[in-house]
Amino acid sequence: MFERLLKKKDINAILREAEGKNDGLRRNLSAANLVTLGIGAIVGTGIFVITGTAAANYAGPALTISFLISALCCVLAGLCYAEFAAMIPVAGSVYSYSYSTMGEFLAWFIGWILILEYLFACSSVAVGWSGYMMSLCEGWGIHVPWHLAYATFDHTSEGWIMTGSLFNFPAVFIVAIITSLLLGGIKQSALINNVIVVIKVGVILLFIGFGLSHIDLGNWSPYIPENTGEFGSFGWSGILRGAGVVFYAYLGFDALSTAAQEAKNPQKDMPKGILISLLVCAVLYIGVTAVLTGIVNYKELDVAAPIALAIDRTGESLAWLSPFVKLGAIAGLSSVILVMMLGQSRIYYAISKDGLLPKFFSKVNLKHGTPQNATIFASIVTGLFAGLFPLNVLSELVSIGTLMAFMVVCISIVVLRKTQPDLKRPFRTPFVPFVPLLGAAICLMQMVALPFSTWVRLIIWTLVGFVIYFGYGIKHSKLNKK
Ligand code: ALA
Repeated sequence: MFERLLKKKDINAILREAEGKNDGLRRNLSAANLVTLGIGAIVGTGIFVITGTAAANYAGPALTISFLISALCCVLAGLCYAEFAAMIPVAGSVYSYSYSTMGEFLAWFIGWILILEYLFACSSVAVGWSGYMMSLCEGWGIHVPWHLAYATFDHTSEGWIMTGSLFNFPAVFIVAIITSLLLGGIKQSALINNVIVVIKVGVILLFIGFGLSHIDLGNWSPYIPENTGEFGSFGWSGILRGAGVVFYAYLGFDALSTAAQEAKNPQKDMPKGILISLLVCAVLYIGVTAVLTGIVNYKELDVAAPIALAIDRTGESLAWLSPFVKLGAIAGLSSVILVMMLGQSRIYYAISKDGLLPKFFSKVNLKHGTPQNATIFASIVTGLFAGLFPLNVLSELVSIGTLMAFMVVCISIVVLRKTQPDLKRPFRTPFVPFVPLLGAAICLMQMVALPFSTWVRLIIWTLVGFVIYFGYGIKHSKLNKK
């Protein structure tokens, strides 16, 4: 039994699969597409919402340093992702990497965790999209009744409650729209994503460019506000806590690796896609934070739409930018949902190809080259969660799932360099084992700092995963049948 759980998939067999007939998925993505897909997945709620609250509550203007620290952590994991994505360019991402390094059981476990990450990231961003859309509608004089645009359940200090709302219909609406785009094929999805990325990056650059002249240097003084006596409340500990909070803003570059099987030249382009998109986003984030905290005093930034507030503060001069910012935010959130949904469906697809989930999930629509059933299934589950639960409940689980996946990728790099040193590695993570081990350690530290309730939910999710694996996967595993 133990042997079966540890059985590894031959890495050369995976490579043959990827190089061969490619199972109906089409290689349509260029290097530029990969960079824009990365930016599409990364820039969203993090910059348009979380920046303000993180500056106001934890780090003040020094949130720029938090963004830098968080970027370093992501770059460490990103370098390891780049090595794997170039070496094993298949749809399963970390799931496939760990199948060849740590065996079937751990691969299933990590695949299950990836589903958790992408599922809850998608549904939480869809809820965020619904909130932004409702405020835009209010601005246009269109009133959507509260009970049609809010979660059915909530978790409060008294436990689970019914909120009195029917369902968050706008959140389900955006999930449905994105699903129809994804079903049209990767080429169409990438094209729409490109347009969205141009809009949201354009809006951010306009804000930075025009905002610069409105900076009041007094708002940056002191740059690192004094600690209030409580750990994490300003000072250097606040910068660290801020780094943990804005980590969410960088998530998404990992989802890009699930598109490796659809890249034209994955060996060369996947590392570029992952690392360039991460660096571009880091620069944008640091720029926005600097301008934001320069225009508005950090103490006033604890609001849902901090960039809009900063524009209001400039008086009439930047008022024209305000509707563009809302449009940018809505567009931005849409592309995060798009790429995360893409990731979710590709993970179902990859797991099903190995027999650990029913065949149904790996059926590819030959006309569009998309895993049709996996995409529709992902959309139904995402829509259900987005309609039923509020943002805080959904987003809690995203970070722990991601950190776990990053940790596994970092450790797997070290394992594979030892066990299979001669494999062809088109991209090599520098300074192994230092870089991956540091990356893994930082992820572990961040996980330990997460609330106990998040761990409990992770354990429940894992147990459900074990039931599926021992009830279905192990019996149908193609590797075990061989
Ligand atoms: N990085 C994504 C966002 O900020 C999850 O919305």
